[in-house]
Amino acid sequence: MDRYAVFGNPIGHSKSPQIHRLFAGQTGQALGYEPLLAPLDGFAGAARAFFVDGRGANVTVPFKEDAFRLADELTPRARRAGAVNTLMKREDGTLLGDNTDGAGLVRDLRQAGLDLAGLRILLLGAGGAVRGVLEPLLAERPAALVIANRSEDKARQLVDEFAELGPLSACGFAALQGPFDLIVNGTSASLAGELPPLPTGLIQPGRGFCYDMMYGREATPFCHWAQQQGTARTRDGLGMLVEQAAESFQLWRGVRPDTASVLAELRRQL
Ligand SMILES: NC(=O)c1ccc[n+]([C@@H]2O[C@H](COP(=O)([O-])OP(=O)(O)OC[C@H]3O[C@@H](n4cnc5c(N)ncnc54)[C@H](OP(=O)(O)O)[C@@H]3O)[C@@H](O)[C@H]2O)c1
Repeated sequence: MDRYAVFGNPIGHSKSPQIHRLFAGQTGQALGYEPLLAPLDGFAGAARAFFVDGRGANVTVPFKEDAFRLADELTPRARRAGAVNTLMKREDGTLLGDNTDGAGLVRDLRQAGLDLAGLRILLLGAGGAVRGVLEPLLAERPAALVIANRSEDKARQLVDEFAELGPLSACGFAALQGPFDLIVNGTSASLAGELPPLPTGLIQPGRGFCYDMMYGREATPFCHWAQQQGTARTRDGLGMLVEQAAESFQLWRGVRPDTASVLAELRRQL
């Protein structure tokens, strides 16, 4: 049976094995998918050992940059993102590195019925997740994309790197001026039950869409804030997780799984 895996540290919480097993069952693909804990200073060795007979792997925190360095060749979107979340062993034994996170977010927003063309978008955060979604978001031709981050210099660095791709600007949280049509929280603040210090007026009551890359059984602190501000819709990042997995699955197996049923099953089990 073809072997696939997800590498991380920690890895016990990962939903990727369950998602890929559901995809495999649904598409009739014979494959195994296992969670693998790599030592913090030993990703390359663990990945090389796996790829003696492994066919493909997902890579999660904190190894996406190690995977970027390990890949023999990168897709253009992985090169832009500076990080790899999907590795595939090719016929000649070399490893292709891809990054499906950004495509996952854009697909999930589309599934939610959102057309990003012409929208004013605010991205909160300037870490790996935000870097990975910048190119796919700008490819949808928004009217403006503002990056706001606690450490403002990191947001400005991203603008310097990506400015040629679209109408990008940066600022700190306090200087933000709304309203925006879409706000995407790509900070890890929700993980600690926190919220970035956001001013009011970022969303017009009854309008706008607020998306948290983080997900959970209850509304995340950011989704809760958005509801208090009167936003029309909120959505958490469980759909992004399923969609980025579907992109990896398609790269490995050449088949696109149905994501809606898998998302519903995961949501039921949260
Ligand atoms: N749903 C999915 O498929 C998916 C995929 C990827 C990531 N994610 C989620 O996206 C989030 C970010 O991940 P990442 O890999 O980008 O992390 P990261 O590289 O560590 O970056 C963390 C970002 O959060 C900011 N931050 C952290 N705590 C904050 C706080 N209390 N207030 C304001 N800003 C804060 C940091 O600001 P500074 O620069 O100032 O430190 C930085 O911009 C995580 O919650 C992760 O679970 C979800």
